[in-house]
Amino acid sequence: MLILGIETSCDETAAAVVRGRTVLADVVQSQVALHAEYGGVVPEIASRDHLNKARPVIEAALTEAKVTLNELEAIAVTCRPGLSGALLIGTQVASALAFALEKPLIGVDHLVGHILAAFLEFPDAPPPPACEFPFIALLASGGHTALYRVEGPEVAQMAELGATRDDAAGEAYDKVAKLLGLGYPGGPIVDRLASEGDPEGVDLARPMLDRSSLEFSFSGLKTNVARWVREHAPIENDQKLRDLCATFQRRVVDSLLDRAAAAAEREGIFHVVLAGGVAANSELRTRGSELLERRGVRLTVPSRRACTDNAAMIAHAGLYAALGGKDDRGRLSISPKSSLPQVTRKGGGRRS
Ligand code: KG4
Ligand code: ZN
Repeated sequence: MLILGIETSCDETAAAVVRGRTVLADVVQSQVALHAEYGGVVPEIASRDHLNKARPVIEAALTEAKVTLNELEAIAVTCRPGLSGALLIGTQVASALAFALEKPLIGVDHLVGHILAAFLEFPDAPPPPACEFPFIALLASGGHTALYRVEGPEVAQMAELGATRDDAAGEAYDKVAKLLGLGYPGGPIVDRLASEGDPEGVDLARPMLDRSSLEFSFSGLKTNVARWVREHAPIENDQKLRDLCATFQRRVVDSLLDRAAAAAEREGIFHVVLAGGVAANSELRTRGSELLERRGVRLTVPSRRACTDNAAMIAHAGLYAALGGKDDRGRLSISPKSSLPQVTRKGGGRRS
């Protein structure tokens, strides 16, 4: 089935054409440069830019895939969770296309897109590792950090096992980078500096590691970094900055992997799949397999482009609903909240 995917939930305008699991085109237009001076995503700016970029990005995807609008069999669009104004642009464009072309419209939960992204087959890239259900998904992005039991590709087959009580992992990276004056988004910058630092070079407390819980907490670690910076300001020694980044990263990665292994053991599913922007992190990817293998758990690490926001994952996630005959043309509601079951907890991520 040939599906056009559209993604505008946050700060990437993306369109992709996917046939089954094969990505024919995957175009991502990042707004990072527009938001950088504010140190985070400005919703109003995001919506306006999606409006300007949606059409050229969709046209670029169709051209790259060598596909005409009439050849499409369905249109999938992110309808939740995300910034309301940003979601509205994508869903309105997708609805208009679906009505004009008389093709089914599929509303996709962005988190489901991330969770299933490991299956995507990108051109000019090695085939993805064999990945079959069930598995435990470790989803870590800018707005979410949670563990899911995934029995199949439908929302009803996914259950949240535990999530962050406060900041998402990517959010912690972004906030730490901001307080260190490193720029936005912080993840890739801190990741790069961390690779040249000593992961035990600075005294930072370990985030909550309550053995009986599958929850995460990163705000204490972030506060710890802020306190360290206050006490040591100005940080004139570049190596000290690298050590700080490396220690912060070690704490985050250890926490993510420890909870993922605990989820695998508790559920009796000894296979963890990484998902979300933070899954692009070098240390999580390289140390992950080794650490989990020691606990008898296999780790699937998708390609980096499958992890960060893209529309191929949305088209692919829409495939299952489209095959089931779903059509949201009559009614497509957007929501800042995910449709996946949420555990009850205090606080929440940046984008719930
Ligand atoms: O999944 P994603 O692209 O967008 C959301 O749905 O949030 O994730 C973006 C997040 C940002 O917080 C970014 O700093 C983080 O992923 N990120 C990373 C890395 N690359 C992106 N975090 C750590 N290391 C990286 N290499
Ligand atoms: Zn995302």
